[in-house]
Amino acid sequence: MAEKKKKRILTGDRPTGKLHLGHYVGSLQNRVRLQKEYDTFLIIADVQALTTNFETPEKLSRDVRQVATDYLAVGIDPEVTTIFVQSMVPEIAELTVFYSMIVTVNQLRHNPTIKSEAAQYGYNDMTYGFLGYPVSQAADITFCKANLVPVGEDQLPHIEQTRRIVRKFNNLYAPVFPEPEALVSDIPRLVGLDGKSKMSKSLDNAIYLSDSEEEVNRKVQKAVTDPARIRKTDPGHPEVCTVFEYHKAFNSDEVNEIEEKCRAGKIGCVACKKRLAEVLNNLLEPMRERRVKYEQNPDIVDEILMAGTKKVREIGKKTLEEVREAMHLNYFK
Ligand code: TRP
Ligand code: SF4
Repeated sequence: MAEKKKKRILTGDRPTGKLHLGHYVGSLQNRVRLQKEYDTFLIIADVQALTTNFETPEKLSRDVRQVATDYLAVGIDPEVTTIFVQSMVPEIAELTVFYSMIVTVNQLRHNPTIKSEAAQYGYNDMTYGFLGYPVSQAADITFCKANLVPVGEDQLPHIEQTRRIVRKFNNLYAPVFPEPEALVSDIPRLVGLDGKSKMSKSLDNAIYLSDSEEEVNRKVQKAVTDPARIRKTDPGHPEVCTVFEYHKAFNSDEVNEIEEKCRAGKIGCVACKKRLAEVLNNLLEPMRERRVKYEQNPDIVDEILMAGTKKVREIGKKTLEEVREAMHLNYFK
């Protein structure tokens, strides 16, 4: 009985590479924390990844498994959380088509995340699939009637679009869907260790969940600090220091003390970085331990994905029956 009453979470990622600490503070941490309280579904959104990778779809199969392995390493428990692959759930594609009738092109064109991504990729004539991926994301979220969507801030326009679709669908046809809510982490977007930009592989400014202790030490060592500080006794300005940003996000126990000492010139940047590297390695160590099992037995990862996909297809079929009923498309009952 109690099981049935649990609210649902749906969230996920595009399989475009290894997950990093930005993903962790932005959303993964919330997912791990909430997975027992909510019935949780994690989508590996390979169709959405195709919007920018349609020329090299063969890359996706590695990245799908990479993301799944990162989920399992971070502490997503496959006994309680359902992990699945978007393209293997045709009900999502079907729902996307129905939703595409009730979303306007202008709504999509004004979506700030679509706009900034299109600029980033240099698209002036973007594909129909790229422009429309928020519609497909609405189908991801609603095919299982999710109530809560833990995401990073950049995803808020998509959740708003989903809510709009849900309201319109429910008003026009029948109240099939709950209006999902976003859950944004209280830690703002984490900058790269160079302090300038978003984390990216080519800039070598991101710490991945799969990084070794040595990699973490190396990356933290070259992180950007307060440029005005030359000697250890110079008073520092933590508000301009990237290392301090990371202490705020990962070291709440010591962050006040570090701030005071930095301002007073009582801690050197070398020691401060060393402490950060320790804190990060302490966080990552249990993930490294969990990862070993899955890397040595990749079949376990595939089995988890197959079982998850099978389970959500059943849920999707039921929802689509309700959708067809609501839209009077159930001709041959
Ligand atoms: N758009 C998300 C991202 O780029 C990935 C995603 C796809 C997603 N479908 C979703 C997130 C559904 C939350 C809910 O990270
Ligand atoms: Fe940054 Fe720490 Fe150096 Fe202060 S002591 S500038 S917080 S690295």
